[in-house]
Amino acid sequence: MIELTVNGTHQAVDVSPDTPLLWVLREQLALTGTKFGCGIAQCGACTVHLNGKPIRSCVTPMAAAAGADVVTIEGLSTDGELHPVQEAWIDLQVPQCGYCQSGQIMSAVALLESNPNPDDTAIDQAMSGNLCRCGMYSRIRKAIKSVAGVNQFDPATETTEIQHG
Ligand code: FES
Ligand code: FES
Repeated sequence: MIELTVNGTHQAVDVSPDTPLLWVLREQLALTGTKFGCGIAQCGACTVHLNGKPIRSCVTPMAAAAGADVVTIEGLSTDGELHPVQEAWIDLQVPQCGYCQSGQIMSAVALLESNPNPDDTAIDQAMSGNLCRCGMYSRIRKAIKSVAGVNQFDPATETTEIQHG
């Protein structure tokens, strides 16, 4: 039995220590907001917070999550109130197909918790591991800036997509 806290609730799951955290979240705990994309830590669709840090749950074994505090997209809202990042995502109509967006939001929340006023470089760096096949990168950047209180956008960067190496 492996014990951990997920979205503030204690959980004990009977799985092998090498089972990916993503499998437990989706299959055992029915937290399907976290998505499976590549399965090899390349797309960011499976991003959750582990002890406050954004991690790729598809390649994080349960052994590494034992005793940890995990937060998923379902755990961001409190008392029925959406997280400000979720509000910004809605206000600025960031999602297109939506598949990558829970991972994008989890990375954005982690960025803003560590750096409340990120510049373009910090945003690009923090978000570079989250791919969006719909190419919504400029709206993602705009939404992050709106939460950070930055409402003036440089037209030169407004249309610049985040580069992924
Ligand atoms: S599914 Fe985990 S990084 Fe792509
Ligand atoms: S909104 Fe479709 S993959 Fe990002």
